Amino acid sequence: MKLTVIGCGYLGATHAAAMAELGHQVLGMDIDPDKVASLNAGRAPFFERDLDDLLAKHTATGQLRFTTSYAEAAAFADLHFIGVGTPQKPGEMAYDLTHLFTAVRQLAPRLTGPAVIVGKSTVPVGTAPKVIDILREFAPVGDQVEVCWNPEFLRESYAVEDTLHPDRIVLGFTGQGTRAEAVIRQAYGQIIESGTPVIVTDLATSEMVKSAANAFLATKISFINAMAEVCEASGADVHLLAEALGHDARIGRRGLRPGLGFGGGCLPKDIRGFMARAGELGADQALTFLREVDAINNRRRERMVDLAREQCDGVISGKRITVWGAAFKPDTDDIRDSPALAVAQALHQLGATVTVFDPKALDNARKAHPQLDYVDHPLGAVRDADLLLHLTEWPEFTRLDPKAVAARVANPRVIDGRGTLDPVRWRAAGWTYRALGRP
Ligand code: UGA
Repeated sequence: MKLTVIGCGYLGATHAAAMAELGHQVLGMDIDPDKVASLNAGRAPFFERDLDDLLAKHTATGQLRFTTSYAEAAAFADLHFIGVGTPQKPGEMAYDLTHLFTAVRQLAPRLTGPAVIVGKSTVPVGTAPKVIDILREFAPVGDQVEVCWNPEFLRESYAVEDTLHPDRIVLGFTGQGTRAEAVIRQAYGQIIESGTPVIVTDLATSEMVKSAANAFLATKISFINAMAEVCEASGADVHLLAEALGHDARIGRRGLRPGLGFGGGCLPKDIRGFMARAGELGADQALTFLREVDAINNRRRERMVDLAREQCDGVISGKRITVWGAAFKPDTDDIRDSPALAVAQALHQLGATVTVFDPKALDNARKAHPQLDYVDHPLGAVRDADLLLHLTEWPEFTRLDPKAVAARVANPRVIDGRGTLDPVRWRAAGWTYRALGRP
């Protein structure tokens, strides 16, 4: 099939490459010429495992191309996936849907024949009908443009794997047995034939699935981090607690990792956008617990700063503090709402000299926080440090020899914000080891 993907960020670029891998002819469209040039050269403008391989493979044959032109996109296919970003509005909890509505508004007048628009962006419930309104108003073919909502559940750092092998496909339509359903089922044919469950529903439910899924995941993480607070007060160990809880199949171990909490471009803004939308709908009481989920998450960052102060004998100002980790989680260079950088920035504001190392996210971090120091080696970064903070759990940090690290610092004091450094090894190497949620 021929199809386009409008908006080529983490979601769209991965979707475009994955659709090419499934054998389709794909044209990706993005308004950013630099991004398009990079993608056409077979390189993602961000780090995502396996994505460059797919991009290189399919741009080389011409099966996958990228453009900045809406006209070219409209002429190329009659199936258009929309994956533009829906960030949080500055200073508000609600989503900023400008990119989405602009993309649809740009595409609509160029749709001169029957077409299917598939929304993949994360949106507040009730957005798809607004997309339909724009299409009705601006598309010359009017109601021959059908809309499907197909939320995306991929995780960054597993984006290619999750796109090619999703655990479910959710499809929302305006009615039953539409042409749009036949078209999208054909596009996902290989994935569906491999046994992936398909849930066909109305537009509102499909939009809600995504909001509810991310709200649940965020709640699970904040639940275990709330337990960490009680562990800290009582001398219990939240990591062992999580392990023990996880053996109950109804609870499960996944998504129950305690630590510095969640960040990234999705969970924080999605719980806030969900609350804002519930408020508009008069259902705000139902989601007030998400305020607490957000608050618990932010308290982890504050607790890390408090622990750092404690380890610096009460005075942060003038101390040399090394932060291992800048990405919001390992295996990505995404620093959006990164807990590690939030802590680094807070310590800098309190007068510490903060040096950051991250295996992939240094360039992004440097651009966003030029006031911090950066060193491109984990051992180089700890030189003469008064305190080391382990804030993003890249596997390379657990592999480093704590003795070799100790030899370079001024004071062997470490705080493990992710609980993946082995306390026994670090203490044996002479470190004062502290961790969130651990005695
Ligand atoms: C999340 C969801 O997991 C995806 O299903 C969803 O598609 C995506 O948001 C989205 O809405 O686009 P992602 O943000 O890539 O994916 O990251 P996760 O792997 O879910 O991690 C989110 C944050 O929670 C990270 O900061 C991670 O360190 C933290 N986390 C995760 C924990 O602190 N504990 C855990 O047990 C799991």
